Amino acid sequence: MSQKRIVVLDFGGQYNELIARRVRQCHVYSEVLPFNTDIEKLKDDDILGFIFTGGPNSVYKQESPQITKEIFNLKKPILGICYGAQLIAYELNGTVDTAPVSEYGRIEITKKNDSKLLEGISKKTDVFMSHTDYVSKLPEGFIVTSSSKDCPIASFENEERQIYATQFHPEVTHTVEGQKIIENFVYKIAKAEPTWKPESFVKTKIDEIREKVNDGTVLLGLSGGVDSSVTAALLSKAIGKNLYCVFVDHGLLRKNESDEVEQAFKKFDLNFIKVDASKLFLDRLKGVIEPEQKRKIVGSTFLEVFEQEAKKLGKIDYFAQGTIYPDRIESGLGVSATIKSHHNVGGLPKKMDFKGLIEPLDNLFKDEVRALGKELGLPDNLINRQPFPGPGLSIRIIGEVTEEKIRIVQEADYIFREEIKNANLDTTISQYFAALSNLKSVGVMGDSRTYDYAIVLRAVITDNFMTCKAYHFDETVMTKIADRIVNEVKGVNRVLYDFTSKPPATIELE
Ligand code: XMP
Repeated sequence: MSQKRIVVLDFGGQYNELIARRVRQCHVYSEVLPFNTDIEKLKDDDILGFIFTGGPNSVYKQESPQITKEIFNLKKPILGICYGAQLIAYELNGTVDTAPVSEYGRIEITKKNDSKLLEGISKKTDVFMSHTDYVSKLPEGFIVTSSSKDCPIASFENEERQIYATQFHPEVTHTVEGQKIIENFVYKIAKAEPTWKPESFVKTKIDEIREKVNDGTVLLGLSGGVDSSVTAALLSKAIGKNLYCVFVDHGLLRKNESDEVEQAFKKFDLNFIKVDASKLFLDRLKGVIEPEQKRKIVGSTFLEVFEQEAKKLGKIDYFAQGTIYPDRIESGLGVSATIKSHHNVGGLPKKMDFKGLIEPLDNLFKDEVRALGKELGLPDNLINRQPFPGPGLSIRIIGEVTEEKIRIVQEADYIFREEIKNANLDTTISQYFAALSNLKSVGVMGDSRTYDYAIVLRAVITDNFMTCKAYHFDETVMTKIADRIVNEVKGVNRVLYDFTSKPPATIELE
């Protein structure tokens, strides 16, 4: 079934699905297609407009992704972002050069001329810039609509031809009025109606799963987190008892988590299997300090355990997991750079005895997954659970993972979570946890010298987990948390708070 949509053409940027997600946030369907998609496919009447994404290349290099000029004659609105903006200028005979000053981060722009794209935006507003090239001369018929100190052409447009471009990234939350800019493009320029809802997604996915699995069986790697729980609900609706949910306790879970997940899932009418593999995981991680290596070891050990369980169950056709979009993009999807390998990304190792992989949420963001969970009738306590990475505490312990360090981080994290709940901040802060730094420092307790670990606390505000800002705690709350951790957790004498945004940091420490 075709539906009215905005197509995002991917030129290799980090935020491509985020753009599609911003459009879906306007209740308009959006999908990402490769930049070299056949032009015939792009002529579809249901495509209401195109957004060209950013990308790491320079338009004037021969090997850089290009676009056929025919797209500019389809009479469909176009919005180019960053590389996409430069490509528009380049293809329509403007000039793109290396900028004398590269811009990175939050930059103020000032509006110039009337602009349909920037309608309703403040005269001066902060945007997110990340570029070394810029448009130095406009193509004929275009006007500048905003400038920054170092970027005279921060946005430009040709209203008659319905072509719009921004050097900055409206899709990133650091662009304060970015969503309004996307809305202007979607509603006012592409004339889309806000009719797309999560229930359309549930129906399409259930049909897709049934068609693929038929009367076969599926083993789902269930962590009890939001993503895999929503995947379980979706699969269970599609194939009922042909689904087996395997929950592996790798010994790297939060305090009491193993029992909590078991209790939550025993209530549903599901084939739920819990496997205690903590000893195996700890053995494999012995002596390992490099973050990517830890991630890969945990990932391959998980698959090994799932395979053993599949053998015990008899014939299992498919393996399913709750991979979501940010897991894929940061693991280096397509032409983007690898930030970290998310353990549940990378397909099936050749030796695994499954027909294929099922990842029904792989184009969605966390908040979209939560909306789906609600639609599927999952309880709020499951839907609103803190995101927890597949490699668990192994990537929240800097350096070698030991039983002692797991205990320390579990206890500190428990206190942190308890105090955040006491301060009624648990729904305000998007993600919060304690990590164990590898820093040992000197302290004093009673009359004695201590030489113990420093706990690092992280609490962030984000709606998409691709970018975030650190939460600023009230002094009383933070003091209480720090006091409780040093007093109650043996082996800790210092508590540090991580104030960095993403980018340039990431949410997890490894
Ligand atoms: P980063 O650290 O990449 O985290 O900024 C973004 C979000 O992803 C979660 N995360 C993971 N989730 N498997 C997962 O399922 C992983 O390997 C993984 N690594 C990070 C992280 O907790 C945050 O919510």
